[in-house]
Amino acid sequence: MRDIQHYMRSGTLQLSALPPLSLYVHLPWCLKKCPYCDFNSHEVAGGTAALPEQRYIDALMADLESSLPLIWGRSVHSIFIGGGTPSLFSPQAIDDLLGGIRARLRLSPDCEVTLEANPGTFEKNRFRAFRSAGVTRLSVGVQSFDDAHLKVLGRVHDRAQAIAAVEEAAQSFDTFNLDIMYALPGQTLQNLEQDMQQALALQPPHISIYHLTIEPNTYFAKFPPVIPEEDLAYAMLDKITEMTGAAGLGRYEVSAYAKPGHSCFHNLNYWQFGDYLGIGAGAHSKLSFAHRVVRQVRYREPKLYMDKALVRDAVTLETEVSRADLPFEFMLNALRLRDGFKLQDFTDKTGLPLTAVQKGLEEAERKGLIERDFVRVRPTERGFDFLNDLQSLFL
Ligand SMILES: C[S@@+](CC[C@H](N)C(=O)[O-])C[C@H]1O[C@@H](n2cnc3c(N)ncnc32)[C@H](O)[C@@H]1O
Ligand code: SF4
Repeated sequence: MRDIQHYMRSGTLQLSALPPLSLYVHLPWCLKKCPYCDFNSHEVAGGTAALPEQRYIDALMADLESSLPLIWGRSVHSIFIGGGTPSLFSPQAIDDLLGGIRARLRLSPDCEVTLEANPGTFEKNRFRAFRSAGVTRLSVGVQSFDDAHLKVLGRVHDRAQAIAAVEEAAQSFDTFNLDIMYALPGQTLQNLEQDMQQALALQPPHISIYHLTIEPNTYFAKFPPVIPEEDLAYAMLDKITEMTGAAGLGRYEVSAYAKPGHSCFHNLNYWQFGDYLGIGAGAHSKLSFAHRVVRQVRYREPKLYMDKALVRDAVTLETEVSRADLPFEFMLNALRLRDGFKLQDFTDKTGLPLTAVQKGLEEAERKGLIERDFVRVRPTERGFDFLNDLQSLFL
């Protein structure tokens, strides 16, 4: 990592203040690789007993310490422990991890701490122990409640385990999330409706619902399953919006639905173009300085990451976001939000004048894709439905 003077030198952007800062921690192991998944996740050879928990946490702490000069004096407003399958780590290891973070960083008093959990790693009292370690929000990767679909998706858990895990999450946490996917191989509208009924019966305060995408370099890309046609997928999305709405969950972002007061601060900060430091294998960071916005990527392969982080050399790639790319990067995120963004936020977070997006905003308004006043810009219903078209106006 470069000397701090390098980041502080003058440049053409003028950021008047720095945005809220979040911390992302990547734990890269899973019991088994799912055929649709292109996340940086690796099967843990030899089972959970073989997880190098202590060495990985040592590497994370070394990584964090090397990064401290870049975030000096700033408070952290949220932590997201993602993966991979972070719930494979023992509650004691998560306790050590959060203790190590607290000893090195100032956390805001209401800091949200999310941990991703897989129902296949669930055992009695485990979630409660994560809560005692300082996790405030659990995100449970359910994907579906249908045994046949769970099987096709290569999941290590079944319907009964998913329900038991969500019930335990509800007992142990004031707020939690379910990850669900739709447009699954062979899924009918009726299957989807049953999945949603089951999900909503568990009364989650937050649900993230993703259209299954066939990602390059996955098993599904090589052996494509038959998935629902576009029309059916749209009908499914309409059904999802209708059912979540009736259950009191509002769609505040393209894929995120929450009861009032339960939206995810960490994800909101990404979409609002806030800052995040990402530590762990393959983690990404976006950090602002008075005159520049910097992105970093860490080494992806877990063993290489540990070796590198322990000698204070975890970053494999560092780039400055160019002045020309900033408007699109901001819009790519902000327009995903139902409530859009404040005009002031654009200038605060990119350090650019509003004239940088004036033409795009005018065209978007003319096409009926946004509505705006002197304070805010919001995507319209149509803008939300044709989000790619809307975002590309700022390319
Ligand atoms: C990194 S995974 C974390 C949770 C945990 N590893 C699990 O799978 O239970 C985050 C979420 O992204 C979604 N996801 C992963 N691959 C996807 C794909 N190809 N298409 C759509 N959603 C996907 C899944 O809903 C998954 O729960
Ligand atoms: S458990 Fe989650 S992170 Fe792991 S392979 Fe499956 S989808 Fe990917």
